[in-house]
Amino acid sequence: MNDRFLKACRREPVDCTPVWFMRQAGRYMQEYQAIRAQHSILEVCKTPELAAQVTLQPIDRFPLDAAIIFADILLPLEAMGLQLEFAEGEGPIIHNPVRDRASVDQLQPVDGDELAYVEAAIRQARRALTGKVPLIGFAGAPFTLASYAIEGGGSRNYILTKQFMYREPEAWHRLLDKLARVVTGYLRRQIRAGAEAVQLFDSWVGCLSPGDYAEYVLPHVQLIFDGLKREQVPLIHFGTGTGSLLRLMRQAGGDVIGLDWRVHLDDGWRTVGHDVAVQGNLDPVALFAPLHEIERRVEEILRRAAGRPGHIFNLGHGILPNTPVESVAATAEMVHKLSQR
Ligand code: CP3
Repeated sequence: MNDRFLKACRREPVDCTPVWFMRQAGRYMQEYQAIRAQHSILEVCKTPELAAQVTLQPIDRFPLDAAIIFADILLPLEAMGLQLEFAEGEGPIIHNPVRDRASVDQLQPVDGDELAYVEAAIRQARRALTGKVPLIGFAGAPFTLASYAIEGGGSRNYILTKQFMYREPEAWHRLLDKLARVVTGYLRRQIRAGAEAVQLFDSWVGCLSPGDYAEYVLPHVQLIFDGLKREQVPLIHFGTGTGSLLRLMRQAGGDVIGLDWRVHLDDGWRTVGHDVAVQGNLDPVALFAPLHEIERRVEEILRRAAGRPGHIFNLGHGILPNTPVESVAATAEMVHKLSQR
């Protein structure tokens, strides 16, 4: 068993820095495209054999130190009663977005069975991994989920989301509380099905001021991390554009804090404190650069981590479509080679 990822999450010494990539299973891989040519993304997510198969694709091809279960952060929203569609080339769409108090009340407080297919996928993926590397489970964080639920899809300025927050603070807190409770139960079930660490994706929380984060988001994220403390697996707290929120995110919880490329890794680590681990933080677009340029950036990140226990190498956000596969392979190899203790 390669356990350097779990060791780094616990800030224990490792032989070299562990590496995995958000969205490591995806369209940049031909093997993934072959499956997607036959099945929609929702079909892949809901068919445990397919989800497990796709989860293993990057593990079979690159020297990665963790797998992440193939699923999507929006699945719980569907289980709660929102009509979710992944439109070709347009990203996710929710056909009945949450725009008022009444639709918050109508959301189903799912307690698990609706998402049992994810647990089945985790069990199958664990079996297929045969202990080769640990398996990470995940969920979206309340703010990021609420932004999709309210906007009805992706957004640039989050106007509807913030408008809801400012105009109807009580309904907002009720929505985030509902989401936080669903996410806590969902992650607990993933852990009990075999996820050896879990990551909370608050991908778009960086659009908030620190004041709004503290008031409208932090208590709900805290509820999730407090609710999972007893589960004894590492908890990863990730967001992007979070330079000014890192201290608050750390306060909200997590054993590992995700850093994106807009902060220097050492500055970000100092901000969250050296008593937590950090994950990051190569710009995903750096993978489109020549190999010598990637290497320079990998070296810089490792230099800033300074061999301190508790660094997990990752991108600052997910791998983008069209990323050269050779660069993904080369980056994983470089991390191991350049960080040899
Ligand atoms: O990391 C992994 O390999 C596990 C799989 C994974 C997916 N989605 C599969 C997927 C993970 C961890 C996610 C999380 C997710 N989904 C996030 C948070 C991470 C992040 O990137 O910030 C968000 C915001 C979503 C919502 C979502 N799902 C978006 C914005 C899209 C992209 C739409 C597009 O067309 O680019 C999806 C679809 C999706 N989920 C894809 C994958 C591989 C790509 C769609 C495809 O296969 O056609």
